[in-house]
Amino acid sequence: MKVKKCLIAVMLCGVFLLIFGGCGRQRQADPEKIQVGVACYNQSDIFLGELVSCLKQQFEELEHSGVEITVMVRDAAGSQRAQDDQVQELIDMNCNVLCVNLVDRADPSEIIDLARENDVPIIFFNREPVAEDMMQWEKLYYVGAKAQQSGEMQGELAAEAIAKDGQADRNRDGKIQYVVLEGEPGHQDAIIRTESAADTLKSKGVVLEKLGSGIANWDRAQAQNRMQQLIGQYPNQIEMVLANNDAMALGAIDAYEKLNYTEAALPVFFGIDGTQAGLEAVIDGKVAATVYNDKEGQARAIGKLAVAAVTGSGMEELEFENEKYIYLPYQKVTEENVREFLY
Ligand code: BGC
Ligand code: CA
Repeated sequence: MKVKKCLIAVMLCGVFLLIFGGCGRQRQADPEKIQVGVACYNQSDIFLGELVSCLKQQFEELEHSGVEITVMVRDAAGSQRAQDDQVQELIDMNCNVLCVNLVDRADPSEIIDLARENDVPIIFFNREPVAEDMMQWEKLYYVGAKAQQSGEMQGELAAEAIAKDGQADRNRDGKIQYVVLEGEPGHQDAIIRTESAADTLKSKGVVLEKLGSGIANWDRAQAQNRMQQLIGQYPNQIEMVLANNDAMALGAIDAYEKLNYTEAALPVFFGIDGTQAGLEAVIDGKVAATVYNDKEGQARAIGKLAVAAVTGSGMEELEFENEKYIYLPYQKVTEENVREFLY
């Protein structure tokens, strides 16, 4: 008899749990209302800042099309600890979907645990978690672009520019002496861009001689610094600068300008991103070419995915790779087509 009572009690408990939320807290009484929490690694990053503006604009457009949306943006200013707290705060404020630009792409576990406990889907963007972490839960997505493609395009653009410009090999030794300005170590876009750009140049028959490289963490001022050191080591020998992004290509140019180099003595510069300043530098002929990192396309994909993840409808309109990844293609930008990219 006692056993039977116990069993009934357990069953009642189960029913109660099923009705009132199972494991984790029951959320979102009104699933049509979308509350987006956006967590950024560092909004002073130029490309990221531009991407987040696109994202805000995208959510505004969705709102005009009749979806009820509120957006809250948090900036971790480079601290993963701060970002973990911000995600907790966004969840406490009842966000029902998170867009997360990780500070440390190798350390998303705390955020994933928080989201899973509260059943809030996460769309990671721009800083890609490793595949293992993406498998931790089914409601994890990633929106970004393929680093390899951007490196290949940068290499092709550089090969084309060198072939066209008889002056690129300034010392006429049949080789292109070059330096690389690299993004953050550990970022999926840094090493891969560097390697695939150089490999592509070689595969196009360009003979390269790497003089050196400097890590400048995507940052213009740091790139100017690193470049000044490289110029000090190799005065007048550098014929090409491959930068992992536009901000660093511009920093390299700043270094030469500060030293009053004449135009004829400058190397050719290549960037990636097509930021506002990067595109203007292509128009001015300062940067030979860049590769467009499609922030508008990424913002659109994140917006649609956020709505679909909350409402459950519209997923079928999105093109996934491996069910959780959306990659937008890069595009080559030269002085011929640069104006098409200015908005
Ligand atoms: C961009 C960089 C940016 C970085 C931030 C990269 O995809 O090319 O400009 O600093 O993302 O995570
Ligand atoms: Ca040379």
